[in-house]
Amino acid sequence: MSLSMTLTVNGVKRAIELDDPRTTLLDLLREGLQLTGTKKGCDRGQCGACTVILRGRRINSCLALAISHDGADVVTIEGVAQGDRLHPVQEAFLAHDGLQCGFCTSGQIMSAIGLIQEGETGDDPERVREGMSGNLCRCGAYRGITEAVLQAQEVLGAADRKEVA
Ligand code: FES
Ligand code: FES
Repeated sequence: MSLSMTLTVNGVKRAIELDDPRTTLLDLLREGLQLTGTKKGCDRGQCGACTVILRGRRINSCLALAISHDGADVVTIEGVAQGDRLHPVQEAFLAHDGLQCGFCTSGQIMSAIGLIQEGETGDDPERVREGMSGNLCRCGAYRGITEAVLQAQEVLGAADRKEVA
């Protein structure tokens, strides 16, 4: 028996047939929609490699049942750049060497985007570290990641201020 659902992924509405109601959002993205930028690390909610933005909030997609989110809006790493223009968080990760092997990076970037949207860390590195603590990096690029989040936050804040000016 297959189940029908829809998902708006990176702004595009997709009609999906699920063969297995137990399919996670992560497996649907990677295997059903070939969006392999979202990584599978632990598959049990412990590493953050699978982070996406679902209905405006960052989540671990390995812990989300796809069918529970019928009709939802999802943003993955494939949806954050605008054509050739990288997202400010992506640019900041490059500028601050916030990665080594890159396996955790898409999850880190999606989590950073979610954290900045939550707007609760201010410019306090300790609070950024705490807010990003669900995203593990086996290469230990934490220093660059924290600096990148702080820089991106500043850039995005400046952009917001310009918009209202
Ligand atoms: S793969 Fe989802 S938290 Fe590790
Ligand atoms: S850059 Fe290698 S795991 Fe984070």
